[in-house]
Amino acid sequence: MEQQIYKGKLTQFHRLKITKKQDLTKNTFSLEFEIPEHLKGHFKFEAGQYVSLKFEAFGNEIINDYSMTSAPYEEKIVLGIKIKTPDGATSQLYKNYQEGDVLSVSEPAGRFTLASKPSEFRTIVGFAAGIGITPIISHFKNILYHEPRTRLFLFFGNRDSQELVYRDVLDQLAKKYSNRLQIFYFYSQEKINHQLFYGRLDAKKLNLIINQILHLDDTDEESTIWDAVDEVLICGKGEMIRDLANACYHHGIRKKNIHFELFEEFNDDIYPVEKEFPLLENVHVDFKMLGKQYNTQLPDNREKILQQLLIQNFSVPYSCKSGICGSCECVLEEGEVELLENEYLTEKEEAQGRILACMSIAKSKKIKLNFDF
Ligand code: FES
Repeated sequence: MEQQIYKGKLTQFHRLKITKKQDLTKNTFSLEFEIPEHLKGHFKFEAGQYVSLKFEAFGNEIINDYSMTSAPYEEKIVLGIKIKTPDGATSQLYKNYQEGDVLSVSEPAGRFTLASKPSEFRTIVGFAAGIGITPIISHFKNILYHEPRTRLFLFFGNRDSQELVYRDVLDQLAKKYSNRLQIFYFYSQEKINHQLFYGRLDAKKLNLIINQILHLDDTDEESTIWDAVDEVLICGKGEMIRDLANACYHHGIRKKNIHFELFEEFNDDIYPVEKEFPLLENVHVDFKMLGKQYNTQLPDNREKILQQLLIQNFSVPYSCKSGICGSCECVLEEGEVELLENEYLTEKEEAQGRILACMSIAKSKKIKLNFDF
């Protein structure tokens, strides 16, 4: 086992052997790892989680996160990976590591998870774009396996049919669970006969989906399928998530039932900030990070705390900057903040004083934070 500070947190890595490497499309591939008996306890995971891989690229050590496509009951770690650019780090991961090689793999992490409810009749809708399908596949396999009464709808967007990844896996699932799973494919750059399936997954498309697909409900003639939706899962780029999450919210789904996983940094808020705060100037911030104590002064509280510390060149931990990933989690030891959005912390953690610095606005002139809690 190796321990390393990653995204400001002490992370455990283990050496695992690649047992299978498979090309999926021209720029995506999958890696499967063997988990030796003595490490099984360290690699228990929930559907929707990810691991971080540590590998060499261009002489540097790189750590990247990749979501599992495997479901927990399969007891294996399988990752779906996209090579974004031919000269990027992931292309080196593809070129330099083969079946039989060993890689450092972190223990599973992430909170894009759902509580399992095997005895309930649930309706769950998933939206994915491109490689964002990976954690959604893990969720769908898991739900279909454990929840015999839950029905699922997947709306999967891709640039064109060449880019569509995991079509075979999805077709098999749709065939095996034809009474509970429906999958719809959308292409943004490939002309197809039916206009509904042409274009990006966005707020406008969601209106059409609700009106043309999720309307009549065979199980309850009084309402529509959309009315029955219990949980929404969204995974892809920030703009798509913001568009769809807001559209789902405006169509009546509560924010706590809209779950999303961001596949890249996003500098905007997912939900618009509706609150206004009294302006404070010269906010004093003390914070502890990686064993060291820092203090600084923020000019005012117009911007969130993390973003202001980054402007001042402090290496505070962050990833999404949108209240989703938890990288900027810290404890508020003194002072008052408003946590604008939180897709990560549990109610219990909030009650313990944990906050997300990227979504926190200072409400007192002195703030004390601890990133090392
Ligand atoms: S940086 Fe992701 S939650 Fe704050």
